[in-house]
Amino acid sequence: RQRVFSGIQPTAGSFHLGNYLGALRNWIALQDTHDAFYCVVDLHSITIAKDPEELRSNTRYAAAQLLAMGIDPERSTLFVQSHVAEHTRLSWVLECLTGYGEAARMTQFKDKSARQAEEHVSVGLFTYPALMAADILLYRTDVVPVGEDQRQHLELSRTLAQRFNSRFGETFVVPDAHIPQDTARIFDLQDPDSKMSKSVPSGLIELMEEPKRMAKRVRSAVTDSGREIHYDPENKAGVSNLLVIHSAMTGRSIADLEAAYEGRGYGDLKKDLGQILGDFVTPFQERVRTYLDDPAELDKILRRGAEHAREVASETVRTVFDRVGFLPPA
Ligand code: TYM
Repeated sequence: RQRVFSGIQPTAGSFHLGNYLGALRNWIALQDTHDAFYCVVDLHSITIAKDPEELRSNTRYAAAQLLAMGIDPERSTLFVQSHVAEHTRLSWVLECLTGYGEAARMTQFKDKSARQAEEHVSVGLFTYPALMAADILLYRTDVVPVGEDQRQHLELSRTLAQRFNSRFGETFVVPDAHIPQDTARIFDLQDPDSKMSKSVPSGLIELMEEPKRMAKRVRSAVTDSGREIHYDPENKAGVSNLLVIHSAMTGRSIADLEAAYEGRGYGDLKKDLGQILGDFVTPFQERVRTYLDDPAELDKILRRGAEHAREVASETVRTVFDRVGFLPPA
């Protein structure tokens, strides 16, 4: 069986529709065919200052959402990144193989650091992609399901795997990105030229939001002054984004939707989409609450996940440390 690995940051509040359609949907699907490792990446999360109590509760909240969405701890290894010390141990080695200029070229670093005052930009934000590479390479991962915004980081992970292998001998599997065709980039409903994101939350659809308010957000999505419901991302970015979401949620093709909405207005499309999303999140939200009601059970699942992850990860680190030339601990 091929191995799949992916990670998601614990955020304040819930995951959003971009996370779901860009990545999480594939996490769930790949459990059936792959040996899956899924990780709540709390180490990545402190690259931007976080309140400790909030981080703790966000991490549980993230795990509860993953379980509620269909990550099955019997079939997948679900764990928290900071529980497996090997992530930081490998990350150091990979940092030492990453060029300064190479890290400085990462567009996510450039975007995130540009949004902060210089004194608040941490070194951790800069070395973030080396930690991400460590996450992936520790588990000899074949496939990494992510959205488009992670493509560049994935490329760097591949480069680092190859670089290590050629310098120290064949050690790492070179991972492939698994990026969906149609939903690789879900856009902000208020600003359909930017990706939907927590950091710029204007037209965000959060999966834990009350269905009525979610429908309202969809109704107030920015469209254009025309009337036709057509997929045309250049000229009709807002409507195209709604069509992509509708199509992904219902499994109907864009062409089918265009035909179905012929002669009807944007209001109809928005109303239907609000309903579709509401129907999807209602049972999901109930399941999340059930998991949150039993934190002991949740922690048990995460502990078991970390134990299994550690078995695989420690083996990799042992090999890597040996190849690099570290003296074995007595
Ligand atoms: P994060 O937590 O920002 O996002 C989690 C996943 O959601 C995808 N995504 C989107 N997809 C489509 N449209 C959007 N608007 C959208 N917004 C987010 C992301 O591409 C991602 O797949 N660095 C990663 C976490 C990470 C990781 C890893 C991922 C750490 N280590 C190892 C894979 C493998 C991140 O911050 O994702």
